[in-house]
Amino acid sequence: MKFFVDTADIDAIRDLAATGLLDGVTTNPSLVSKTGRDFFDVLKDICETVDGPVSAEVTATDYDGMITEAERLRKVADNIAVKVPLTRDGLKACKDLTEDGATVNVTLCFSPAQALLAAKAGASFISPFIGRHDDIAQDGMKLIEDIRVIYDNYDFDTEILVASVRHPLHVVQAAMIGADVCTVPPAVLAKLFDHPLTDKGLAAFLADWEKSGQKILG
Ligand code: G3P
Repeated sequence: MKFFVDTADIDAIRDLAATGLLDGVTTNPSLVSKTGRDFFDVLKDICETVDGPVSAEVTATDYDGMITEAERLRKVADNIAVKVPLTRDGLKACKDLTEDGATVNVTLCFSPAQALLAAKAGASFISPFIGRHDDIAQDGMKLIEDIRVIYDNYDFDTEILVASVRHPLHVVQAAMIGADVCTVPPAVLAKLFDHPLTDKGLAAFLADWEKSGQKILG
């Protein structure tokens, strides 16, 4: 499973890119707005930092507006993935942008039927929002299971990009189901590295090594 980071914070992105474990970035208008920076400056910085797809969302809601904005976004860098909402106009734009060679991420997916339409529209990525389902007491991960079955039934190439991830268990469950990508907020990604038994075990090894009086170097 690929790891994308779900943020527009360039410092957090640089930090994670340095681990060599980052496969891409997703942004949305809320995340860009949180930075207080110019959208295109943010995108340029991110695309220079990460080789993989960088999702940049259109804000027009009509087909013509989406296509015009997508053209502008695609000029930023070759690794821009144009993010369009899962609406009629969004899927129409997805189909035409895909045919024109763009990478398209269809966002705000909340049902298997919507995911089926996005795949038929040729989306490179479908972004089902897990946490927002959980927020209203529905099982977000069931949506990932259903989409996995549908896409496998018909060999769709569209990658399932699990979004609205809130905690490490979401990441583990997404991997168990066989999602292609998980986009994870930096704070959740950081938690994936940690385990108290790793810290405890390391402290014990170092204490025993100290007692032995030996050194690997010098
Ligand atoms: O990027 C879209 C998605 O990940 C948003 O997550 O936490 O605002 O539901 P959230």
